[in-house]
Amino acid sequence: MTREPAQTTPPSLARLPRHVAIIMDGNGRWARTRNLPRPMGHREGVKAVRRAVVACRERGIEVLTLFAFSSENWRRPKTEVSLLIELFVHTIRKEIDELHRNRVKVRFIGDRGAFDAKMQTLMAEAEQLTAQNAGLTLVIAVNYGGRWDIAHAARALAARVQAGVLDVESIDCDTLGQSLSLADLPEPDLFIRTGGEQRISNYLLWQLAYTELYFTDLLWPDFDDAAFAEALESFARRQRRFGRTGDQVEQSRRA
Ligand code: IPE
Ligand code: IPE
Ligand code: MG
Repeated sequence: MTREPAQTTPPSLARLPRHVAIIMDGNGRWARTRNLPRPMGHREGVKAVRRAVVACRERGIEVLTLFAFSSENWRRPKTEVSLLIELFVHTIRKEIDELHRNRVKVRFIGDRGAFDAKMQTLMAEAEQLTAQNAGLTLVIAVNYGGRWDIAHAARALAARVQAGVLDVESIDCDTLGQSLSLADLPEPDLFIRTGGEQRISNYLLWQLAYTELYFTDLLWPDFDDAAFAEALESFARRQRRFGRTGDQVEQSRRA
């Protein structure tokens, strides 16, 4: 009996996450420790975003989802909210051509209704320009909340029931899941939160059900390639069981 040739993929690469979702936290504290105003921390944070995109592209990670502005961040002082939105617009304008050149497909998730027409157009144009790209999918969560996502999906299903195209009895985890943001992408394999807090802060609540969680005290502007590599190594060492026993997982890996 001939056996299949041994897998040529190095083990480290075989355990690379397909989808990494990040809460980029700690910009304000990064600035404060340097006696700088908080906006400087956010500006420095953009550099770390660029590094993370390159790190994912170079490693062949398929999807990177970044939390840029949460539905709760409106509670910050008006000046900080405006600055964050201006920085977001400025960064998209400045980076979109290079992202496109590098075959990055850009997408936004979150409730866009809160933004003005100009910003909504900018987002739609960035998505249209890069829609056919086959490289990294970069998902940016703006005015996003995990609870909003689930409520929005529930509403979409209710509308289909009301229109007579969906049976109440056929609604299950799959139907609800298919109505959520990111439904067409692989589920996040690895979640990273910088800044030392160990919480989800209303990020991808449903989608993180079986994601490996990784927390680091590093502040987001300090999150460099070495730090990213460390997170990937931590991920590679974990055994994902999805409810099964460790022995079962080992057996199916060997089969
Ligand atoms: C994350 O950094 C950026 C956003 C929430 C937009 P923070 O601004 O939350 O930084 P800290 O947590 O105050 O240090
Ligand atoms: C989460 O960070 C949101 C983003 C990074 C965009 P926050 O700094 O807003 O989170 P909390 O409020 O401390 O949990
Ligand atoms: Mg914070």
